Amino acid sequence: MNAISALAIVPFVSVDNMMRLVLSIGIERFLVELSTYIEEDFRRWPTFDKTPRVASHSVDGVIELMPTSDGALYGFKYVNGHPKNMREGKQTVTAFGVLADVGSGYPMLLTEMTLLTALRTGATSAMAARHLAPKGANTMAIIGNGAQSEFQALAFAAILGIRNLRLYDIDPAATEKCRRNLAPLGFSIKVCRSGQEAVEGADVITTVTADKQYATILTDNMVGSGVHINAVGGDCPGKTELHRDILKRSSIFVEYAPQTRIEGEIQQLAADHPVTELWEVLDGSAPARKSPDEVTLFDSVGFAIEDFSALRYVRDKLAGTSFYQELDLLADPDEPRDLYGMLVRAEMAI
Ligand SMILES: NC(=O)c1ccc[n+]([C@@H]2O[C@H](COP(=O)([O-])OP(=O)(O)OC[C@H]3O[C@@H](n4cnc5c(N)ncnc54)[C@H](O)[C@@H]3O)[C@@H](O)[C@H]2O)c1
Repeated sequence: MNAISALAIVPFVSVDNMMRLVLSIGIERFLVELSTYIEEDFRRWPTFDKTPRVASHSVDGVIELMPTSDGALYGFKYVNGHPKNMREGKQTVTAFGVLADVGSGYPMLLTEMTLLTALRTGATSAMAARHLAPKGANTMAIIGNGAQSEFQALAFAAILGIRNLRLYDIDPAATEKCRRNLAPLGFSIKVCRSGQEAVEGADVITTVTADKQYATILTDNMVGSGVHINAVGGDCPGKTELHRDILKRSSIFVEYAPQTRIEGEIQQLAADHPVTELWEVLDGSAPARKSPDEVTLFDSVGFAIEDFSALRYVRDKLAGTSFYQELDLLADPDEPRDLYGMLVRAEMAI
């Protein structure tokens, strides 16, 4: 075999290397820096190609492709959502993604994105809440204490300074896992026996449960005035977390309305129900929270631009580190049109 040429190589970040990268930066700093990348990209929203993600649904879950481009870089993520996986010892959500150069079409980075999705989801939620949550918010309820939950808590701590948590999950073992992971990090934590108990006194309510159905994690009477709801778990057709009455009295903020109308809490509402895309708040063309009594809702489903920002951030942070492997991903014949010749010469060299 010939020596591998530089053009054949794409940096690959394994789960192991992603963990090294995140820990070398520090989880909270990573979340803060990542949220600035996401906010930067939301502020230049019109420059991006946008499409609702391409979803392949099955009885047990969904597999999705999430592409976008800003004209210079192209990114996509492969991600699944299978609520039943957790009971079989697997992740509900796994992901990987690619960043590519639009000029040549050549991939520049291939990376795990299971951890990166949890980090970018927390960073996006907290970035949205920084603009929408009531001033001085210091207590958050987290309903659903699975894989995403600690990342939500850490992002809200790093970006909004929220360190009082009220945790609830239908499975007490999940809550205990979440409490055990977060307690040493300076959080004040109340373990709750119901969703109702969890939301008492909370300024922010995060729902991040996984269930393949129209669930009712929050009913209208559980949501007091002035609260910010960060609804993360309802992200597929037929998979929601909030009672419809809450939506009707909330100011609703979304990532990309055409996708959220298919996948988000607002699939329960008429197709013309008014919503604000978050980028409009960031660029000043739409108001954020208008009064202390208003209920604000970030109906999060996860959008491709957040993954693009995460890929961009990881690419920048990898420079000068050893947290990647060189993957021989691209064919690079000596003469570009002699792909066949490269194959045949390889046979002779074996
Ligand atoms: N919006 C986004 O960008 C985004 C990104 C990633 C994941 N998600 C979604 O977030 C959800 C959580 O993901 P995860 O990886 O943490 O899943 P997970 O399976 O690890 O955890 C989900 C938890 O929810 C709990 N739960 C289920 N029904 C409940 C109920 N009625 N009340 C209280 N708790 C309940 C389960 O016991 C479990 O502990 C999933 O639905 C996933 O699709 C959204």
